[in-house]
Formats: sequence, structure tokens, C-alpha cells
Amino acid sequence: MSKEILLEVKNLSVDFGRGKKAFRAVDDVSFNIYKGETFGLVGESGSGKTTIGRAIVRINEASEGEIRFQGRKISGKLSRDEDRFVTERVQMIFQDPMASLNERAKVDYIVSEGLYNIKGFKSEKERKEKVEKALLDVGLLPEFASRFPHEFSGGQRQRIGIARTLVMEPELIIADEPISALDVSIRAQVLNILSLLKKTKSLTYLFVAHDLSVVRFITDRIAVIHKGKIVEMAESEELFKMPMHPYTKSLLSAIPLPDPIAESKKKLYVYDPNIHEYDLDPPKWVEIKPEHFVLANKKEVEMYKVAYAQGG
Ligand SMILES: Nc1ncnc2c1ncn2[C@@H]1O[C@H](COP(=O)(O)OP(=O)(O)OP(=O)(O)O)[C@@H](O)[C@H]1O
Ligand SMILES: [Mg+2]
Repeated sequence: MSKEILLEVKNLSVDFGRGKKAFRAVDDVSFNIYKGETFGLVGESGSGKTTIGRAIVRINEASEGEIRFQGRKISGKLSRDEDRFVTERVQMIFQDPMASLNERAKVDYIVSEGLYNIKGFKSEKERKEKVEKALLDVGLLPEFASRFPHEFSGGQRQRIGIARTLVMEPELIIADEPISALDVSIRAQVLNILSLLKKTKSLTYLFVAHDLSVVRFITDRIAVIHKGKIVEMAESEELFKMPMHPYTKSLLSAIPLPDPIAESKKKLYVYDPNIHEYDLDPPKWVEIKPEHFVLANKKEVEMYKVAYAQGG
């Protein structure tokens, strides 16, 4: 894989509310996404994953830091042209397919909405063709364009959600927990569609999930986020083999084991952020091993280095 950086998130913070009531949902987050990779962002509910996605597509404002796409700044105040530059290249699939589609609009309109916003077609015929193609790409019949969202199942609705991003022919898709709300039986279908599309359309994904097991086999690298801060980042295989941060370990221990006896005897790992006196020895972002980063204080860095020396 080439290592061309497509998206750079640098020291991003996002605050909600003002003054004393301000709440920092995303706290000094930095990562790069390389062209062609699937980058996983994993953390529990409320950790700030959606907020990061929404900051990238400019629904949420960055309070601090900046975001770049192909080297061009896409956060902060943008001109109309710059705004269009991002919209054409970065699209987001929203978390809950039951809530994210406009119930009163037909599929034709829902899929076209982005095109209308950027006037991305020359004629009505061209628009219709684009919608048809996007529906076919996600395995839906073109006839579905004249129907309303309530006529579809959860899996089909999520495909409509994917079609509305595809119609824009983006380069980066932010897939915000695209399968969490779906029945287990149809999750694989949607994942297969996403992975096929990635190949045929040379896409790059930021894939958001709250469960590490979901992203294990589909991501190249993973960043683990806890309470608005990224605590660890590594290549997926490496993260599963050599998790360092206690929060990553707690997420890994929460994955059910296939063997019921082993599962019933398993010790759950609970993350206590106070264990290493962060007040006295504050944590920093450290590259423990090439491409393996962890948020750790001095004491922890020493510990991790020993673990590494022993483990591989
Ligand atoms: N518009 C908003 N106004 C105020 N607070 C918000 C807003 N959006 C998000 N938050 C808060 O920011 C924090 C992060 O929310 P976010 O939706 O990014 O979490 P998440 O990691 O996507 O969680 P989930 O897995 O449940 O989707 C939460 O505490 C949430 O309540
Ligand atoms: Mg979310």
C-alpha cells in the first residue's frame, strides 16, 4: 500500500456549550489516514467517535486544531469552492439507518440530496442515471427510487445510506457504526458491500465502531478512543497481538470467546484511569514501537517497554 496521506487530523478538539458549561467531547486528537486504507476508530458510547466524523464533514466545528484533506485545510471557515472540494470528496454514512433517512422524502430525493447541494449534474436524466447506478452499486433495484424509507428493512435502509454517499463519488467515506444497529444476520451483507465497493471504487474508509471484534478483520490500522482522547493506535494485527493501554485491554477482554467454558471463566479487565497517578506524572503520546503509539506517562512507558522486550 502506498503511504500517501489522504486525511490529517491534527490536535483536534471539539467543545459543546460555552463558558463554565463547556464540555470537551474530543480532546486533542491527532491521526492520519493513508489513501486506500481502512482506518478503525473504536471506543465506547460517548467517547467522541461520531463527533470526530462530524467534524471532518464540517457538521461540528473544530474548537481547536485542524483537519486537512490531500494537504488542503478543510476545517474552520471555508470559501464556497473549498466547501465544495470537501463535499465532493468526503462523505459520511450515518450511524442509525432507522433515524438518519428523511421519512417524508422518496429514495430518489434522499440519494440525490448531496448532488442537489453541489449541483452535481447537468440534466435530470444524468441525475436519475447517477441515482440508479448508486442503488445498483449497493444491490438495490433502481425501481426502489420511487419508494419511501418506511418500506425498507434496516439493512436496505443502510444500503440507501451508503448509496447516498456513493452518488457523490467520494474518495473518503466515514462509516459511522454502519452495522451496529442492524440484525446480526444482515451485518455481514453490509460489510461485504462496503468491502467490495472499497475495491471497485478505490475508496478509503474511516470505520467507526464501539467493538474491537467488528473491526479486526476489515481495518488496516486502529485508533482506540476513550473519553475524547485517543489512547492507542497501531496496525490492527499488532494491536490485537500487543495491546498496551489498559483501556485497549479492557475492550479486548470484552470480546466474547467462542468457547463457552473459556468465556465463563474469563476475567474481565476493567480500566481504571487513576492507576498511574496521572496528576503527578501526566501521560504523553509516545511511539512505543514503529507505528505503535500509546498515551502513557513515564511509569507506563517503562512498563510497556519491558512488556515488549518480553513479548516480541
Ligand atoms: N450536539 C451536541 N451537543 C452537546 N453534546 C454533544 C453533542 N453531540 C455529542 N455530544 C456529547 O459529546 C460526547 C461524544 O458524543 P459522540 O456522539 O461523539 O459519541 P460516540 O463515541 O459517537 O458514541 P456512540 O457510540 O454512542 O455513538 C457525548 O458525551 C455526547 O453526549
Ligand atoms: Mg456515535
